[in-house]
Amino acid sequence: MAKKLFVKTYGCQMNVYDSARMADVLAPLGYAMTDGPEDADMVILNTCHIREKAAEKTFSELGRWRAHKQDKGGDMIIAVAGCVAQAEGEEILRRAPFVDIVLGPQTYHRLPEMVAKATRAADLNGKGGAVLDTEFPLEPKFDFLPEARADGAAAFLSVQEGCDKFCTFCVVPYTRGAEYSRPQAAIMDEARKLVEQGVVEITLLGQNVNAWHGDGGRGFGALIRELAGIDGLARIRYTTSHPRDMDDDLIAVHGEVEKLMPFLHLPVQSGSDRILDAMNRKHDRATYLRLVERLKAARPDLALSSDFIVGFPGESDADFADTMALVREVGFVNTYSFKYSSRPGTPAAMMPDQVEEAVKDSRLAELQTLLWDQTRAFNQTCVGRTMAVLLDRPGRRPGQLVGRSPYMQAVHVDDADGLLGRVAEVRVTAVHPNSLAAELVDVERKRA
Ligand code: 5AD
Ligand code: SF4
Repeated sequence: MAKKLFVKTYGCQMNVYDSARMADVLAPLGYAMTDGPEDADMVILNTCHIREKAAEKTFSELGRWRAHKQDKGGDMIIAVAGCVAQAEGEEILRRAPFVDIVLGPQTYHRLPEMVAKATRAADLNGKGGAVLDTEFPLEPKFDFLPEARADGAAAFLSVQEGCDKFCTFCVVPYTRGAEYSRPQAAIMDEARKLVEQGVVEITLLGQNVNAWHGDGGRGFGALIRELAGIDGLARIRYTTSHPRDMDDDLIAVHGEVEKLMPFLHLPVQSGSDRILDAMNRKHDRATYLRLVERLKAARPDLALSSDFIVGFPGESDADFADTMALVREVGFVNTYSFKYSSRPGTPAAMMPDQVEEAVKDSRLAELQTLLWDQTRAFNQTCVGRTMAVLLDRPGRRPGQLVGRSPYMQAVHVDDADGLLGRVAEVRVTAVHPNSLAAELVDVERKRA
């Protein structure tokens, strides 16, 4: 009989990808996905450590799962994966002794062994102890994973992992380890197999995705060109990139490769040179602005997204004003902004002049008001425009489908029966707070 697996994911798209791969690894053991933790035989919490709030969610969720495990007379394997597991593995086992498995982001190819060990321990009434595996193994996990299974028309493909940049606020270099690029052949193979399963859009993933490099010094731009050659693949995206790794070739690719969507997530974090330096970002304000200028010269319809941190230690009113000015100058859509959160073990946590919470709150509110205005204004410019939308999920109304525009906006399209998984030309008719409404331009032609 099939066993039931429930996976809950916090954090970034890399975690979403990892969760899907953990399910792939467990499928041969007879585990099939279920929608909730209550009746699952195994539950996995894939955690995020990037900010304090994200990490705190781990223990509150585990508290709820403990009750489900008790309801089932203890007959449930609880695993904690991801970056909190990597950073605080021992602490998790101490604070939540009902957890059976703790595994880091680099060891999930070993899940079958861990499940076997945990099951043996359960047979010994828990005397076998919990399984903790947060190593950084020499063998990359990708060499041991089964084939990726597509789930719909859009897919993630992890091409790079880890980070060597050491921004002073960030835990990623410690939780995800050193930069690693998957070999090009493995990436191409996974991409082709996804397309054979009906995928038309691939988002290439990595903590520093544009730091990817292949044999003989091939850069990320060359990889995108190669992927664009796959018949049936209609759209390519990538995230998250670092300004420092945006080389000439990659900029040129934005102009040359039609399949590469005109939308780029390029985190800047701050508009102040003093703060960028203290953050160890390895780029300054002028370099970032120049980059944006060159990217837009290559691809004039490019829309930009970004990440911002307010209240980094030492950030003055003048530094914050520099961030606001940069935002006005560039103009962003679809952004993410955060209050600085002190993370144990990072250099910034030890810096003097930590900014008061109230100041962070008001700066964040001011920045988000501006960013929201920009997003709304951009959405408004889309009304009346025709754009290609990948319709990848059913909407709430009968006959309605929902998809993504080239700029990652959610788009609702009525009377779209039969177009699930297809890219359709639509005309935008209205803007809603979090989405666009659109109608098909030429139904007959698109269905042909
Ligand atoms: N505090 C607040 N935001 C952070 N980020 C990373 N570390 C921190 C931190 N300590 C943000 C950055 C990064 C995004 C993924 O999360 O903006 O780009
Ligand atoms: Fe963290 Fe900086 Fe690396 Fe991004 S580039 S993962 S923010 S250390």
